[in-house]
Formats: sequence, structure tokens, C-alpha cells
Amino acid sequence: MSENGEAPSHIAIIMDGNGRWARQRGLVRIRGHKEGVESVREITRECAKKHIRQLTLYAFSQENWKRPRREVNLLMKLLKDFLIGERGEIEENNIRLTAIGRISGLPEDVQRELAISIEESKDNTGMVLCLALNYGGRSEIVDAAKNIARSVKAGKMGLEEITEETFRRFLYTSEMTDPDLLIRTGGEMRVSNFLLWEISYTELWVTPVCWPDFRKRHLDEAIQEYARRERRFGGLQE
Ligand code: FPP
Repeated sequence: MSENGEAPSHIAIIMDGNGRWARQRGLVRIRGHKEGVESVREITRECAKKHIRQLTLYAFSQENWKRPRREVNLLMKLLKDFLIGERGEIEENNIRLTAIGRISGLPEDVQRELAISIEESKDNTGMVLCLALNYGGRSEIVDAAKNIARSVKAGKMGLEEITEETFRRFLYTSEMTDPDLLIRTGGEMRVSNFLLWEISYTELWVTPVCWPDFRKRHLDEAIQEYARRERRFGGLQE
């Protein structure tokens, strides 16, 4: 078996288990989300230090609106505080912030802070930190299909021009490479509507560790395991 021996260039994370972390400690769910922000800080800093090119975090899915209003409001507040509070750290670490998802569906104050952070960091040349917000993988594909249909209807694109490569250009993720490694915390073996198109050949790594407990040593473990994987992309071993 040939190991790829490389560091992943793009890591995506499904940050799950905040609620369980809190419940195990007799705390309310939102305490888990608050602690989860600490993990976001540490893992972002670590990935930037390791010269990972991109880190994509599933921070709020389209399905998360189904949660109690109080929890949704708190998640939005944590996000807003993170955007405001981390601007210095983002700058210091030369990080460029981006976002994917139906951003216009977020509360206006969150949209405003997000736009400021994206604009302020747009010339940074280090790691790209991409937040998936109000994100759904199926919606992303539907939105891409609609925009392609519009282009065809307007005569800007022919049917025969619709290929995997051109389709990709209509995704929210058009400017990024596919994730090399997808980490899921909290132990569940699901993809949960995250980056459906983009993870076709991504290596998956699931840990039972809940997101608020996820630290540098767990990230190192995932990266070491990734280096041992043989990536064939549907082909055969050399
Ligand atoms: C899943 O845990 C986690 C979320 C729905 C939200 C993730 C958000 C954060 C970590 C904090 C805010 C993000 C940023 C970028 C500042 P869960 O509640 O589904 O856990 P459970 O499966 O144990 O119930």
C-alpha cells in the first residue's frame, strides 16, 4: 500500500457534539456552543501555523433553523462576536476570511460584520478560513443548476458546455479546491448535507471526541492518519 505521505491542503470540519458535550456535564446546550468557539479559535490558529491552505468550517446549516429560537439566536450572537473579536487574530495570522451558503438569509447584523471581516482580510495571502453559514449541499447544487439554466436561457452558454468543470464554476465553492480531508467530531457517520459535490474523493476521518474537546492533538492525529491513506481517485494503485 502506498501512503500519500502529504499534509492535506484543504481541511473541512463538521463541528458536531456541542449539545452532547454540555449534556454530559449537566449544562445547557448553549454552553457547548460557547465552548465550541474556543475550539474554532485553537484549530484555526493551528491550521494557519501548519500552513494548511484552507479550512472550511460547517458553522450553521440550513437545517439548523429548526432548532429552538433561543439556541439559533445564541449561535448567531456567537458568530457575530467571533467575527468582531477575531479580526486582530485573523490579521496577525494573515488569514483570508470567506463564507459559503445563502448568506442573504442570515440576520442583517451578522451579514454586516461578515462583510466587514471579508473585506478587511481580502488581501491576506495565508490560509483561507471559510465559514459555511446557512449552508446546505443540496441547495448549493440547486442554486448552481438554476444559474446555469439562466446562462443557457440568456444564450451565454450552450447545453454541450455543461460539464463537471463548468458546473463547478457555478458552485459557492468555485474558487476553492475540493477538501482533501473531512473531519467529523461527535462520532456520527454522516455527511449531513455538507459539501456534497466537493467531497466526492475526500478522505473522511470521524472521531468520537465532541467539538468542544477537539484540540491540537486530535487535529494532529487526523493529519497523520490522512498521510497514511492511499488516494486513488477511482484508479488503481501505481
Ligand atoms: C453541532 O453541535 C454544532 C453546531 C450546530 C454549531 C457549531 C457552532 C459553533 C462551534 C460555534 C459558532 C461558530 C463559529 C464559527 C464562531 P450539536 O448542537 O448538533 O451537538 P449534538 O449533536 O451533541 O446535539
